[in-house]
Amino acid sequence: MAQSHPRGRFRFLRVATAGIISLYIGLTAYEHQESLIRALISPAVRLLPAKTSSNLALLACKYRLFPASKYKDNVNLNSSFFGRHISNPIGLAAGFDRNGEAVHGLKDLGFGFIEIGSVTPLAQKASPRPRVFRLSDDRAIINRNSIDSDGHQAVVQRLRRLRETDGFDAVVGVNLEHNLSSRTPISDYMSGVKTFGPVADYLVVNYSNAKGKRHSTSSKKQLIELLEAVNTARSQLRPNRYGKVPILLKLSPDMTLDEMKDVASVISMSTCQVDGLIVANATMVHKNVSGSRWLREKGALSGEPLRQRSTAMIAQMYQLINNSVPIIGVGGVSSGHDAFEKIEAGASYVQIYTAFVYEGPELVERIKSELSMCIAEMGYENIREVVGSNYQQYLPVRATGSK
Ligand SMILES: Cc1cc2nc3c(=O)[nH]c(=O)nc-3n(C[C@H](O)[C@H](O)[C@H](O)COP(=O)(O)O)c2cc1C
Repeated sequence: MAQSHPRGRFRFLRVATAGIISLYIGLTAYEHQESLIRALISPAVRLLPAKTSSNLALLACKYRLFPASKYKDNVNLNSSFFGRHISNPIGLAAGFDRNGEAVHGLKDLGFGFIEIGSVTPLAQKASPRPRVFRLSDDRAIINRNSIDSDGHQAVVQRLRRLRETDGFDAVVGVNLEHNLSSRTPISDYMSGVKTFGPVADYLVVNYSNAKGKRHSTSSKKQLIELLEAVNTARSQLRPNRYGKVPILLKLSPDMTLDEMKDVASVISMSTCQVDGLIVANATMVHKNVSGSRWLREKGALSGEPLRQRSTAMIAQMYQLINNSVPIIGVGGVSSGHDAFEKIEAGASYVQIYTAFVYEGPELVERIKSELSMCIAEMGYENIREVVGSNYQQYLPVRATGSK
């Protein structure tokens, strides 16, 4: 019989002991997943560089590592969203889950609705690093990330698979963008409507980012062409189980008053209708940030420095469109009070992004419980009564002219 060498036996013992310890840690971690996630992933999400932490959080959502929220939404948060019931009006803004990889895990966190994208027709790579900067003192992010997208086909297949999952009932919107290299951006949006119309709960025409449109002052004609085209594309779709898919238009916070008036007049045309507005994307104007270094860094600024500007724009658009379609308010929301302000200014729903990257998943429950308290303290029964109830207070003070 072959005799085992003492060094071999020792090695075997070491491997076996390490295996048993790992198994023990693994099982304990699995059983106490909640506390492990809270102890490790949540702080890491707060401390790591912006892009890394949002990638980590996305990964954790993709594999559903965050424990599902047990928070029961108060009835005063219940609302309807283009014909669907939602238990709360807090959604995730576009850009976090661009490719629709983590929708189930994000739903677990308690969002009322989730927007994926922006998605481009063809797969598109991200811009070179560094592209996302965390401005911790200002609770803000600067990003100059061109849209990295897996492309329509990969994303729509993911969404179809989700729809086939038993019990999956999340409200999921798809934010559409054209390819950077596209010579026909309008057909890119049309292709997005045709591809995602049958599987999305709503679609977003990301007008805020579209090439050359952020600062364009002669954009009215372009906007008419774009909205006529997407309406034509939608009219060719068969209605889904909730009717025709709603189309929303996402705006830049850098629009002048005249541009906002153009939007209001265009969307009132019968051929250019949209079902809602998203106000607003990140801003190219680097105001309200503390470090002068950031004033020079190119890219779109989001988070706290954007908050008031976006709330003022919500109030302005609410007034201009005369409450004809609902507004999703987004920009710098990090508390229930911030969300309440957006709703008082005219938003029916609120989205978050930057604060979520800073604070991690617990933010969703906190915002909801604070918002619910605000509603009750102010003597309202339901969030719907708050919409636009105080919009005049948030209108921007303008000296002269229309800028
Ligand atoms: C890193 C990053 C990526 C984003 N990507 C997109 C995008 O692909 N499409 C889009 O419409 N908005 C995108 N946004 C804008 C957000 O959806 C949101 O409108 C903006 O950040 C303001 O909200 P916040 O202050 O809560 O972040 C992005 C924002 C950030 C910070």
